[in-house]
This record gives sequence, C-alpha cells and structure tokens, in this order.
Amino acid sequence: MPSRKKVRVAVIGCGVISELHLRCFAHNPDAEVAAVCDLVPERARRAARERAPGARWTTRAADVFADPGIDAVSVCTDHASHAALACAALAAGKHVLCEKSLARTAGDLRRMLAAAAARPDLAAAAVFQHRFEPLPRVLRELVAEGAFGRLVAATGSLWTLRDDAYFRKDAWRGTRKGEGGSVLINQAIHYFDLLLWIAGGADAARAFAANLGHEGVIETEDTVAVALRMRGGALGSFTATSAGMPQWRSALVFQGSAGCAEMRDDRLFSLSLADKAAEKRVRARVDRALAAGADLFPKGRDYYGPGHQAQIDDFVRAVRTGRRPFVTFADAAETDALVFAAYASAAREGRASR
Ligand SMILES: NC(=O)c1ccc[n+]([C@@H]2O[C@H](COP(=O)([O-])OP(=O)(O)OC[C@H]3O[C@@H](n4cnc5c(N)ncnc54)[C@H](O)[C@@H]3O)[C@@H](O)[C@H]2O)c1
Repeated sequence: MPSRKKVRVAVIGCGVISELHLRCFAHNPDAEVAAVCDLVPERARRAARERAPGARWTTRAADVFADPGIDAVSVCTDHASHAALACAALAAGKHVLCEKSLARTAGDLRRMLAAAAARPDLAAAAVFQHRFEPLPRVLRELVAEGAFGRLVAATGSLWTLRDDAYFRKDAWRGTRKGEGGSVLINQAIHYFDLLLWIAGGADAARAFAANLGHEGVIETEDTVAVALRMRGGALGSFTATSAGMPQWRSALVFQGSAGCAEMRDDRLFSLSLADKAAEKRVRARVDRALAAGADLFPKGRDYYGPGHQAQIDDFVRAVRTGRRPFVTFADAAETDALVFAAYASAAREGRASR
C-alpha cells in the first residue's frame, strides 16, 4: 500500500536546472520541498523565497542528510560533486534523484553504484528525462521486437553552440575536474543515451575528441566522434559539437535489415519498412504511442523537453511505493560507462582534449 504521507524533498544545488526540479516537485501532489541547499547563501535563500515557500534553506548538505524529516534529495549540482553528495545521502538513508551526468569519472560511478547497491531499500534514480518521452519509448520497443529486422547500424548527432560566455559563467564548465569533459558528458549525453537505449546498448566505444571553437576557453572537448559496437552486433556512430551554429539540432537513425526509423529534433522524421503492410501497422503503433503521450504531456515542450515532470513523478512514486524507478543509477551507468570509455579512447588517440 502506498503511504499517504507526502515525500519531503531537499533540492541540493540551486542553479539553472534546480528551477525546473522545484517546479516539478511543487506540481506533484505527493511531494513537498522541505529544504533547499546551495554553497552560495543567496542562491539558497532566493530558491526558498521564490520557488519553495515554507522550505528552509541551508549552505550545508550535511544539515540535509542529518535531518530526519527529509525523505529524499534531488542532486542538482555540478558533475564533480554528484558522487560525494549522492553517496552521503544514501548512507544517511535518503532516496536520491541525481541529475546527469550521474558521475564525472569511472571511479565516481563505481562508488555511486556501490552506495546504491548497499541500500536496495532506497530509490537511487538518475535523470535522463528524454527516456520518458513516447517516441523514444516506442522506438525502443519496436527495435527490441525486431520490427525493423536485424539492427545493422545506429547513428546519432547533436549540433549546437555554447559561446565563451557560457563557459566563463561557472568555473566548473569545460574543465576535467568540474565537468569531466564537455559536449559529450553534458549537452549531448541525452542523445548519446537515447541512441544506446533505443538500440539495446553497446559494449565498446572508440573516439576522437577535439577543441575546435573554444581554444583558451575550455580544456575539454567541444567536438567528439564516437564509434560504437552495439550489443546485438550492429555498428553505431555518434558525433556532437558545441562549436557549431547557435541552434539545437539532433538526429537519431536506426537502420535494420527490414526497415529504418529516423528521429530529427526529437520528432519522427521518417519510418519505412520493406513490407508496406507491416509499415502501416508500425506507423499506426507509433501514432497511438504519440497520441497517448500527448495526454501525458499536456504542457507540451519546454526547453529541456517535457520529461522532467514525468521523471520526478516517477521518482516520487518509487519513494512512496518502493517500486523501482524507471531510470536507476545502474541503468544510467551503462551510458556513463560508454562516455568514459569514449574519453579514454580519445585520450589514447593523442589529439584528444583529455
Ligand atoms: N537534465 C537536463 O536537461 C539538464 C539541463 C541542465 C543541467 N543539467 C545538469 O544539472 C546539474 C547542474 O547544472 P546547472 O546548469 O544547474 O549548474 P549551475 O552551476 O547553474 O548550478 C549548480 C549549483 O550547485 C551548487 N553547488 C555545487 N556544489 C554544491 C554542494 N556541495 N552543496 C550545495 N550546493 C552546491 C553551486 O553553487 C550552483 O549554484 C549538472 O549535472 C547538469 O549537467 C541537466
């Protein structure tokens, strides 16, 4: 039986993404934001005043972990602090939702997985909000069912621009110590994750990385090309840049022996099967999934997509019912591990940025 008590949440890190977390928790009738925390007092105070009236604020995450009135924490800090905060929260008996990238390094990732495994009674969830959107979900089902025949090639891209001011605004961005990389581990990780998740995962990654538009500004890569060996035997590729045009363009293509599906800019761009009767059935299935998804997301798209509300609702439900969150630390770790494998490969290639 789910408990009727509201889940009392603390949001740690009151920067850009925290506003969306605070809005989504406020919108969930089974949750209440009890505390906000930021190393910068004014950020914590402002978040409490403007986004979480009634919540207490603090600059010390340890206060949150020691508070028996807090059930769960949402980690919205820079990548380098995720591991320490999430591990301390789990050790203190708090359920954890952690923003992407779950970890900054492979070592951090191992520690986080061990901390989650040591507390199977707690929800340890990782933000990959695009996995909640209907199109990636139905494409993943169709690939797994073999609707496109045998998957032979999967490819993805993200092209955007982050200007110098973006990187100079916060000291952690574009650094190995703070961010762990740049375009692959940050902006592009959503599309890298969808490529892997829809295709059924990969077991090897090789990469080249370069800094083509931000020399002297960031020490990590703004452009990356990754080659992947997918678990089912297909080959994959992924390219991303934050040194392109001031736009946000993405593409994901899944090519099978019997058909192909292509997403562009988060929408279905094309779907074709050699068997036209089968194509009609698959298209109808996608249309039904998208129509059902339209009900799920009545607010439509915002800048980060519609998935955060669905993911936060899923997290609150997991805390209240003990049910597994839809994206666990272990699920997200598969993608993070391939990010780290790609960076290690790029470093071996010599022209890499790390
Ligand atoms: N899911 C998405 O679409 C999405 C979008 C943007 C950012 N993010 C992720 O969210 C996280 C935060 O990004 P952001 O853009 O909000 O960063 P930000 O720099 O704007 O905010 C981070 C905040 O965390 C605070 N902080 C750092 N260490 C802390 C600690 N130990 N205790 C308390 N506060 C601490 C900083 O003072 C800062 O205010 C990153 O992991 C980022 O990749 C996810």
